[in-house]
Amino acid sequence: MKILVTGANGQLGKELQTVLEEKFPGQAVYADSGVLDITDSAAVNAFVTAGDFSHIINCAAYTAVDKAEEESGLCNAVNHEGVKNIAAAAEAIGAKVLHISTDYVFDGHAFTPYGEGDKVNPTSVYGVTKRKAETALMGLAPGSIIVRTAWLYSPHGKNFVKTMLNRASTPEVSVVYDQVGTPTYALDLARAIAAILGSRQWVPGIYHFTNEGVTSWYDFAEAIFRTTGAKTQVVPIPTADYPTPATRPHYAVLDKSKIKGTYNIKIPHWYESLQHCLRRLDAIK
Ligand SMILES: NC(=O)c1ccc[n+]([C@@H]2O[C@H](COP(=O)([O-])OP(=O)(O)OC[C@H]3O[C@@H](n4cnc5c(N)ncnc54)[C@H](OP(=O)(O)O)[C@@H]3O)[C@@H](O)[C@H]2O)c1
Repeated sequence: MKILVTGANGQLGKELQTVLEEKFPGQAVYADSGVLDITDSAAVNAFVTAGDFSHIINCAAYTAVDKAEEESGLCNAVNHEGVKNIAAAAEAIGAKVLHISTDYVFDGHAFTPYGEGDKVNPTSVYGVTKRKAETALMGLAPGSIIVRTAWLYSPHGKNFVKTMLNRASTPEVSVVYDQVGTPTYALDLARAIAAILGSRQWVPGIYHFTNEGVTSWYDFAEAIFRTTGAKTQVVPIPTADYPTPATRPHYAVLDKSKIKGTYNIKIPHWYESLQHCLRRLDAIK
């Protein structure tokens, strides 16, 4: 196996570096934007061909969801055109692609967990570009696997957990209570990806992966502050009181039965994984 990880310095890319080195030591090449810009089709083609990879895991993405509303061209270049470049290069050498997508492909109007085949209807520039990538990838490289995830956090980069920890010395923080979903610890997602790579079967298609359980951003913030012993009071507010340029899905719970059944993956509850991350961040003992 010879694996290429693109976007390797992002939250997921960094966790994958640890997990893949444990499970498949020396078998992966880790490239971030400085090494390989996925919007440069010639560079992607040359890099992939020279590397003769068996698998490409695309963790590269434009993830500034609100900024994307005014930078739609750049967002599309990375999230859509970049994925097309990877798909074309992979197909040329027969490499398998595992790509990461998002709950933002849904509009969030559902009341029960989203299955992989449920109707998509992205409501933000970011969501539209991620959906375009899904369609393009399945057209150009139908043997690919797409893993949709949501509410990603880790000890690295920017995320909700680190934002809340940075607010731990303030007396009060307002957080929306009417957006419901499931946090995803990037380490758990990286382990799930490694399980797919290590399994005897590669079953193309779309899969959903988050941690287990359901919560709101408000409850997630409560869990972070109460677990770390911070005195910060969390004030529940409706989304209407916290307008953002990009619309978020109100309901973003993903049904994970398919990935659990196909790859025999056991997924930790979000609270258990939150504690693991907080320990790594030295926020709890
Ligand atoms: N974060 C979430 O809450 C969330 C939720 C659902 C799905 N996802 C998806 O999960 C995946 C991983 O997300 P993440 O949170 O790990 O993202 P992240 O931390 O923002 O990392 C993305 C990485 O992509 C790199 N990148 C950006 N433009 C690039 C380009 N043109 N060529 C190559 N690399 C480029 C970035 O490098 P630079 O820093 O050098 O630009 C960065 O290291 C993405 O597909 C994302 O859409 C994320």
